Amino acid sequence: MKRLNKKEEIFLLKLGGSFLTDKNQPFTKREDVIKSAVQQVIDANVKLILIHGGGSFGHPLAKKYNLTKGADKSIPHQNLGLVETHQSMNKFNSYLIDLFLENKYPALSIQASSIFIKSSGAILTHSIDIIEAALDLNILPILYGDIILDKDGSFSIISGDEIIFELCEKLKKYHVSKVIFTMETDGLFICDEHEENKYIFLEECCYDKLDFLNLADIGQKIDVTGGIQGKLDFIKKICNYKIPVQLVNGLCEGYIYKSLKNQELKCTNIFIVK
Ligand code: IPE
Repeated sequence: MKRLNKKEEIFLLKLGGSFLTDKNQPFTKREDVIKSAVQQVIDANVKLILIHGGGSFGHPLAKKYNLTKGADKSIPHQNLGLVETHQSMNKFNSYLIDLFLENKYPALSIQASSIFIKSSGAILTHSIDIIEAALDLNILPILYGDIILDKDGSFSIISGDEIIFELCEKLKKYHVSKVIFTMETDGLFICDEHEENKYIFLEECCYDKLDFLNLADIGQKIDVTGGIQGKLDFIKKICNYKIPVQLVNGLCEGYIYKSLKNQELKCTNIFIVK
């Protein structure tokens, strides 16, 4: 009788651009924060796919050329802006990859713009195998928010969160046991019903209650990919695959490591069933 192979468990870790970079200063890295995050991933040494955001290397350019709305002939040099955005993200990604390599940790950059394409609004890929082949070799695949071309003669931006959802849906050999979103706050905050401008930290929430939260919006930075509400929409979609999600403050020392080791930490846990 043929033995059923159990899928190997992996984590998906998103390093949010808002905490890796100074979103208000174009092309500005928070080098110490990035180095600490990379070190924690190396120290944890668990099987994962790392996805990072754009922060000030992606959003300002994408906004300048209105890339999320697709090809628009009225915008001067938009194609140039498109590839400049990709190249900016590429350079930012190279900085992270180099940090892993300096530490003798095998990490492979995989460009979302080369493995995903849009067609009639849907995201298609035939290249998930590349990511799984890297995992098989114990190489850490690193993807990042990028541009995405469209078969219908247009383009858009693919955010790190969208990439994560695509991976949750399309990975075949690996099972995602948890998605970790690191950000620059402790997680989700809701508005206090009784006191104006007072926020309450949300430690946990069942995914089917996410629609009913009165979320506090505590960030006001340029974000072409939807901010916290956009993130929640993806979280709901991820949870539909029965995958729990953890929102973790990447600026708190050791939190990324703790999350990857399933240790206790102050964060927001979005769980599937009580
Ligand atoms: C955005 O990716 C990528 C570009 C704008 C090119 P994300 O949306 O995942 O980035 P962050 O995490 O919000 O910065």
